[in-house]
Amino acid sequence: MFTPFEIKNATIPNRIVMPPMCMYSATEDGYVTNWHRVHYGARAVGGVGLIILEATAVEKRGRLSNRDLGIWDDSHIEGLAELVDLCKAHGSVVGIQIAHGGRKSWGDDLVAPSALAFPDQAVPHALSISEIQDVVESWRQAARRAEAAGFKLLQIHAAHGYLIHEFLSPLSNQRTDEYGGSLENRMRFLLEIVEAVQSEWPQKKPLSVRLSAVDYLEGGLTIEDTVAISRVLKAKGVDLMDISSGGLLPARIELAPGYQVPFAEAVKKGAEIPTIAVGLITTPELAQEILSNGRADFVALGRELLRNPYWVLQAKPDQETWPWQYERAIPGKQ
Ligand SMILES: Cc1cc2nc3c(=O)[nH]c(=O)nc-3n(C[C@H](O)[C@H](O)[C@H](O)COP(=O)(O)O)c2cc1C
Repeated sequence: MFTPFEIKNATIPNRIVMPPMCMYSATEDGYVTNWHRVHYGARAVGGVGLIILEATAVEKRGRLSNRDLGIWDDSHIEGLAELVDLCKAHGSVVGIQIAHGGRKSWGDDLVAPSALAFPDQAVPHALSISEIQDVVESWRQAARRAEAAGFKLLQIHAAHGYLIHEFLSPLSNQRTDEYGGSLENRMRFLLEIVEAVQSEWPQKKPLSVRLSAVDYLEGGLTIEDTVAISRVLKAKGVDLMDISSGGLLPARIELAPGYQVPFAEAVKKGAEIPTIAVGLITTPELAQEILSNGRADFVALGRELLRNPYWVLQAKPDQETWPWQYERAIPGKQ
């Protein structure tokens, strides 16, 4: 858990990741507030190896709420850069997840691969080919801004029923053009985004994609699809897969500690690519088991890090890990 991991030009000091978690605390125009400064800064002081900032919208209409962080305008760069500086001063590597909510976005300007609504949401507009190209361009511009803000890692949000996932899953993509039908066609939108992002995001910096491994529904995405997609992403130069699940449509999910770890394990082994495992990982024992058995390269703790920003320090109570300012509080010290 405390062995550093080198990925491209980043050395992540330990294997604990703070996964992207929306804080619904930006201004209505998507700017950073004091909430973000304190919230992310505290996890950096708490020794988290890799902090991935919450879903940050590549287009204003693609926000998941009206208080999401934005990266759709150059004026967002300054506040994001401040968060990078705050966290890196304490040793964390700082990444950002960039996102588009598609048919699950906030507001009434909903877009999707097909005019199929998410339950209790309006029917989205099915994107035309030229509109798809415009959306891809917004991801490219977002990557340029992420680089300008100084992030060390970029994550493309392709999970949880948002726009890219809507293209990937046959349950939400019923297109008959080159963006629908076979898995190869359903993957096209994601691959075009990866290429667009890579044209701005430096090759030497790590690029990550978050996928929902399964839809938990008949006719939806399967783990075999996810392994196949991950293989293609690896060949394209993606460095790190973050494996979550669900979110496309309501489904029954059996929750238990580490319930998504087998998906991360399947991707790591099947696509031979580093992975992050996430989902109800709360104890150092479970985190260490996952890492020691080579089931994933990183473990992400979401709600546990909301409950306890000092989880990492408590897992390793020594001078090497703790900020010197807190030394007198190390258990066993006077
Ligand atoms: C408050 C909150 C906000 C979240 N926002 C995002 C998000 O912006 N992007 C994302 O990919 N996942 C998001 N998630 C999912 C988490 O990243 C994580 O996958 C999930 O909470 C499961 O991990 P856990 O059991 O350790 O909390 C969010 C979860 C929570 C609790």
